[in-house]
Amino acid sequence: MRRTWIVIGIMLIGLANMGHWSHAAGEQQVGDAVTVPVEIVADYIHSVIEAHRTFYTIQVVERMQKHGKMVASENWRTKHTLPLPVQLLKEADELGALTGSKIRYRLIGLWPINKQNAPATDLEKQGLEQVQKHPEQRYGSIVSVGDGRFFQAIYADRAVTQACIGCHNAHPSSPRKNFKMNDVMGALIIEIPLEE
Ligand code: HEC
Repeated sequence: MRRTWIVIGIMLIGLANMGHWSHAAGEQQVGDAVTVPVEIVADYIHSVIEAHRTFYTIQVVERMQKHGKMVASENWRTKHTLPLPVQLLKEADELGALTGSKIRYRLIGLWPINKQNAPATDLEKQGLEQVQKHPEQRYGSIVSVGDGRFFQAIYADRAVTQACIGCHNAHPSSPRKNFKMNDVMGALIIEIPLEE
């Protein structure tokens, strides 16, 4: 009987040690070189931006409009309307830059309501056309901006809800008026600095 308890005791100590070792093996110190490929980082950032904007468009813009409470418009600061979904993105990007973030992002379109949102370079135009054809794929390249190098990722921007197409199709400055649900309306560009 006593021997059985000793054996169980030894087994328990052994198990506890195994647990300790496996825990130690899975641990890494902060500061150890852990790298994540830049394109994966871009994908993470993309999913966060996309989720925030979709939530804002459906649960704030569309909901307020449906209940006749408030619309979204370009001149939201002076007219006491809601910011447009694209402005949520622009304002957040600018605020991020002011607080020291080096990651920049913006929306572009092949049929832009605002001409400033047309692709700025041949590479951006190419990326926009590519995600139009293959919306599930990111279009990535290395670009130089000023004296820095950036990883530029371009993602398709789709009509995720009725409000997207309702507003664009009705907007007087929109060059295209036949957007349908799920159409690619433009692209989100994310630029991540490659040097610290
Ligand atoms: C209430 C109107 C409204 C809604 C809702 C809206 N947009 Fe827009 N969107 C605009 C306006 C106006 C602009 C141009 C604003 C600017 O940059 O001055 C714009 C800009 C854009 C651009 C950049 C190219 C361009 O047309 O200038 C894209 C891409 C875009 N919107 C996609 C979407 C998507 C996708 C949704 C839904 C998630 C959406 N929009 C919802 C009005 C709207």
